[in-house]
Amino acid sequence: MTDPYERSAEFIDVMMAPHWDAFGPPLTKVLQGFGPGPIVDLGAGGGLGTMVIAEALPDAEIMAVEPSPALRSVLTARMSERPGLRDRVTVLPGNLLRAALPPGVSGVVAMNVIGHLAPEERRGLWNLLVPGVRAVLNLQPPAEPVEVPTTRFADLRLGRHRYEGWGRAEPAGPDSVTWHMSYRVYEGEQLVREVTTDYAWRVLGERTLREELREHHLTLTPVGPEDLGMYVVERETHAYGS
Ligand SMILES: C[S@@+](CC[C@H](N)C(=O)[O-])C[C@H]1O[C@@H](n2cnc3c(N)ncnc32)[C@H](O)[C@@H]1O
Repeated sequence: MTDPYERSAEFIDVMMAPHWDAFGPPLTKVLQGFGPGPIVDLGAGGGLGTMVIAEALPDAEIMAVEPSPALRSVLTARMSERPGLRDRVTVLPGNLLRAALPPGVSGVVAMNVIGHLAPEERRGLWNLLVPGVRAVLNLQPPAEPVEVPTTRFADLRLGRHRYEGWGRAEPAGPDSVTWHMSYRVYEGEQLVREVTTDYAWRVLGERTLREELREHHLTLTPVGPEDLGMYVVERETHAYGS
């Protein structure tokens, strides 16, 4: 399967960074309720979230699963240059079904990734959540397979250049959209580079996810500021916070 992030990897990390200013504090808080076993960072990207996990849980082992070789390069470099992370973060290629996870996983962080998972991968994730094992994830709009008009979602400066990220979505099936992305680099007013790529994304709203989870005897609990769309998923018998 081709990797859509092969073309966009150089932009993803810098464009995700401002979002992690918001995701970091609620994720840190949620992780305090996780057990002592290894934490899986699913679709870790360049490792911005992995660093939050590492700081929130200074003794935890972290398995950072990242299928894109380009983003995995960013992740590996970021982890290896930090002595506190080098010893306890393992970078794994592939997806959740192919990753060689150790026994005793205590939690899964799936930030900004759930729409990338095929139904069987989602099932694999839910099956990992035995009693005492929690997941934290976020849902991103749209919740239905609808058109999303072209929107600028990133605008940042690096040296002489300004980077813009643009995207629009179109329906691609009963539960999917295709995101058509354009990453633009400007020097002054002049567009000096443009990279485009498409992401397949399974749409998922709170109601649909809750119904799916109920079949697996899992609950969905909102956490953090509402606009971030973050949730904890866990076994019905162990309500979050109890
Ligand atoms: C928008 S990025 C988010 C990266 C990181 N979690 C963050 O929030 O900064 C989505 C990530 O999911 C990864 N990904 C795509 N398909 C995946 C799959 N089937 N399983 C796990 N990760 C996947 C991509 O390679 C990419 O790194």
